[in-house]
Amino acid sequence: MKQIENMEIKLTKFSHGGGCGCKVAPGVLDEILKGSGESFMSKNLLVGNETKDDAAVYDLGNGNALISTTDFFMPIVNDAFTYGKIAAANALSDVYAMGGKPFLAIAILGFPTEKLPTEIAQQIIAGGKSICKEAGVSLSGGHTINSPEPFFGLAVTGIVPIKNLKQNSTAQEGDLLFLTKPLGTGMLATALKRELLSESEIQQAIDSMCLLNKFGEELGKCEFVHALTDVTGFGLLGHLIEMCEGANLSAEIDYAKIPLMQGVKDLCTKFVYPDNTMRNWKAYENKVQGIGSESLLTLCDPQTSGGLLITVDEKNKREFLAIASQNNFQLEAIGRFISPKEKLIYIL
Ligand code: CO
Ligand code: CO
Repeated sequence: MKQIENMEIKLTKFSHGGGCGCKVAPGVLDEILKGSGESFMSKNLLVGNETKDDAAVYDLGNGNALISTTDFFMPIVNDAFTYGKIAAANALSDVYAMGGKPFLAIAILGFPTEKLPTEIAQQIIAGGKSICKEAGVSLSGGHTINSPEPFFGLAVTGIVPIKNLKQNSTAQEGDLLFLTKPLGTGMLATALKRELLSESEIQQAIDSMCLLNKFGEELGKCEFVHALTDVTGFGLLGHLIEMCEGANLSAEIDYAKIPLMQGVKDLCTKFVYPDNTMRNWKAYENKVQGIGSESLLTLCDPQTSGGLLITVDEKNKREFLAIASQNNFQLEAIGRFISPKEKLIYIL
């Protein structure tokens, strides 16, 4: 039976990197974009390349804007259905991170048809469909190619009333910083790949990665949320640096308040981390003060389908925490934005 064979296929063995750890380094991405010439800039383009935001945003001229984004990567877990769910939740997240509502998605699939049975591809797409259904998004169509390594993701279209649009570059001095998911998916996925964890031990990471960042759509309606993004391949530090650079501010992080997944501290002491952690750190080291051996590994850990990073006007802290709690998030501020200083980030 093919079904039974499939159970034994370890999808992560077919990929050199997994999840958002597949992202090219921030410096390399800058170089590619810089050398790629001028884009046609429609006057309707509200968010383009300049601020390194989560998605492109196009003014429809009727008070609403269209949000367009894509994300895809190689398997981060061994089970095809779960991989499909994670990749879909991750791709949808960039629409939520703009304060918007995704409504349409198309699939992007690369598949080694000579190495893996077709059922695996079916299961990957079925996982994607189940998450899209949960999000109220139609997954209709897409494109599949034969590829030496499997990869999967979505191109997603969303909509947002322009007054609700949230960007990553609009934090204000004094804003409090909140994070909705614990860090550690990169480290746990590395441990999984090296077979240091059982599938059941990685369940918390899977649950977290499959959790939709739908809360972002809610936050779009909150005026006191000044800036919003999601934490993915560049790690918390990378995405926070983009927020600081966009707003021309610095930020302080209270490291003791950073939520970590179970097992992460232990993996830190064993130096189990993905290669991209160091690549991320190399890109940021000049912009950060106060890093320690544990905080380097956790704050630079590439997250797959990571949480929302939210900046909130301090005056509205209680109101925000109440809304977060209604959405099942018990949050605590992990830092704040301060006036621009020599470094962008200060870890306390
Ligand atoms: Co993003
Ligand atoms: Co993205």
